[in-house]
Amino acid sequence: MKILVIHGPNLNLLGEREPAVYGKTTLGDINSGMEALAKELKVSLEFFQSNHEGEIVEKIGSARKTFDAIIMNPAAYTHTSVAIRDAVAACGLDTIEVHLSNIYGREEFRHKSLIAPVCKGQISGFGAESYMLALRACLTLGKK
Ligand code: DQA
Repeated sequence: MKILVIHGPNLNLLGEREPAVYGKTTLGDINSGMEALAKELKVSLEFFQSNHEGEIVEKIGSARKTFDAIIMNPAAYTHTSVAIRDAVAACGLDTIEVHLSNIYGREEFRHKSLIAPVCKGQISGFGAESYMLALRACLTLGKK
């Protein structure tokens, strides 16, 4: 199984960015934690981070033939991007939406995800562990 992991805007700043909300774990720490778990679970991962909506749309669009599933934290685009939602729907790959923080416990504008309705599910609020849970969830896809 080959999984594409997409990190959206400002997640490159994790560790320094609002640590009270997002913790002190860096994106590099998250990626290496996922790599270690992926090895255990015998799946392969590719990581992609972008601060640009169009780049994320293109990456999703080209993922169809190469990957079996997507784990994505669309970050701020969660709440605004019809283009990323449409890309997920168009590519047809099972996608799991991830958030470090519990978006439903924060400002009202974060309560709505435009992406979640076209995903298999959403994991929100467990810090860096959200990504590990998403990786484990990927293995259950297609089993029902
Ligand atoms: C986030 C939540 C979003 O609302 C926010 O814009 C982010 C990070 C999270 O992981 O908790 O950038 O996706």
